[in-house]
Amino acid sequence: MHLRHSDKPHADPTVTLRIVMQDPIALTGKSEPVVTILAAKGESILEAAMEHGVNIEHACGGVTACSTCHIYVKQGMDCLTEATEAEEDRVDEAPAVQRNSRLSCQCEIVGDGPIEVEVPAWNRNAVKETPH
Ligand code: FES
Repeated sequence: MHLRHSDKPHADPTVTLRIVMQDPIALTGKSEPVVTILAAKGESILEAAMEHGVNIEHACGGVTACSTCHIYVKQGMDCLTEATEAEEDRVDEAPAVQRNSRLSCQCEIVGDGPIEVEVPAWNRNAVKETPH
C-alpha cells in the first residue's frame, strides 16, 4: 500500500529519533537493531522511518484502517501529537498492546525530541509471511 504523506510542509530535520527494532533484518535487511535518524516536525514516525530505510509495515497506507504500523513509544511521547479516539480504537486491535502503544502513521512529531520508539518483531511477520 502506498504511504499517504502528511500534507503539511515539514520543518528541517532536527529531531533525534531512535528506532529500536526487535527484528531488524525484516525491517531493514540489516542486523543492526538500532537506527538513529534526524526527523522533521510535521512528519509522522512512519514517514520518517520509511524515508530512512526502516520499512515499518503500513497495510492501510496510513489512514487508521489497520494496526500493522503499531510501535511502542519509549521516550518522547510528549513530542508527538496525542492519539485520537480513532487511533486508540484501532491500536487496541494490535497484538501485545502496551500503555505506550501508538500507530506510527498517526504520531506526528511536534516537539524537539529526543524520541525513541521500538518496533515489535511481529510488525512485519503478522501480515507478510514469506514462503520458505
Ligand atoms: Fe494502517 Fe497506520 S498504516 S493504521
